Amino acid sequence: MQDAAIYTKGLTKSYGKLSVLKGVDLVVERGTMLALLGPNGAGKTTIVRILSTLIEPDGGEVKVGGFDVVREGNDVRRTIGLTGQYAAIDDYLTGRQNLEMMGRLYHLSKADSATRAQELLEQFSLTDASERIAKTYSGGMRRRLDLAASLVATPPIIFLDEPTTGLDPRSRLQMWEVIEGLRRAGTTILLTTQYLEEADKLADRIAVIDHGTVIAEGTADELKAKVGKERLEVVVGEAHVERAAQAMGEGAHVDREEGTVSIAAAGVGEVRRALEALENAGVMVESLSLHKPTLDDVFLKLTGHEAEEAAAKN
Ligand SMILES: Nc1ncnc2c1ncn2[C@@H]1O[C@H](COP(=O)(O)OP(=O)(O)O)[C@@H](O)[C@H]1O
Ligand SMILES: [Mg+2]
Repeated sequence: MQDAAIYTKGLTKSYGKLSVLKGVDLVVERGTMLALLGPNGAGKTTIVRILSTLIEPDGGEVKVGGFDVVREGNDVRRTIGLTGQYAAIDDYLTGRQNLEMMGRLYHLSKADSATRAQELLEQFSLTDASERIAKTYSGGMRRRLDLAASLVATPPIIFLDEPTTGLDPRSRLQMWEVIEGLRRAGTTILLTTQYLEEADKLADRIAVIDHGTVIAEGTADELKAKVGKERLEVVVGEAHVERAAQAMGEGAHVDREEGTVSIAAAGVGEVRRALEALENAGVMVESLSLHKPTLDDVFLKLTGHEAEEAAAKN
């Protein structure tokens, strides 16, 4: 476990009397992506800042790339790329100049800096804008330039702190493609997000965090399985719901107004049995659907509130 790319055990952090992290345990294996999913104020940025050595933990063990963030900060900093709220983009340099400057900061030669800048501009679809100053970039372009800048030194581990918050849908999709590309190239990624859909789509594993504590961890499917099985819903019309519910058996849930009956049904076998029972009872099914629980259901069940509603309140 301690060989993992990112490892925290009992990580705590307070600001004055405010306990922000209350014993956070995380493991991110090399070459995988973990989404740290939680509402505003959950402690995500604080974790990223500790992992990237910008602030020190109060307690617990924290290792990045096998190095201790407190005792071996320099080694950690050499291992990571960081992007998010600390954008180091210079507004008055062009996209290309920003990337070349970053290369020089990482002690690449002038020629290597130029080569790397060109590669990144292409990879991040910024070639058309490469000679414009960053100030003129759209929000989505800026985020991509910011991410590109953090990748100049090809770090094996990167932190993405809410990389798509506030982006329009098209820019978000572009950013997702870029992130998936990094993931395919074998980069270890810790990504924080408030968006369930983003965690679901991108990450290998998801840690759900609320009020400074990890309240659940697993693959998207594992988390969804905690909520319950898939549900089969049939539309039969108001007049037939009772008969349908009786046929489908124990646990059937009736929505009279909608004229629907639903029941937990895992797999084809249970679905087939329910439909056969309806047929045998002579109930006409107008339409049917199978719902997987969503991460929204997961968040609601675990925290008692919805992720994005909680985010809006903060
Ligand atoms: N420098 C700071 N001083 C005092 N409180 C802070 C500081 N940074 C963060 N906090 C508080 O810590 C909590 C967690 O913040 P943060 O880690 O930024 O959450 P998230 O990134 O999940 O939105 C919040 O209540 C926030 O107000
Ligand atoms: Mg944050």
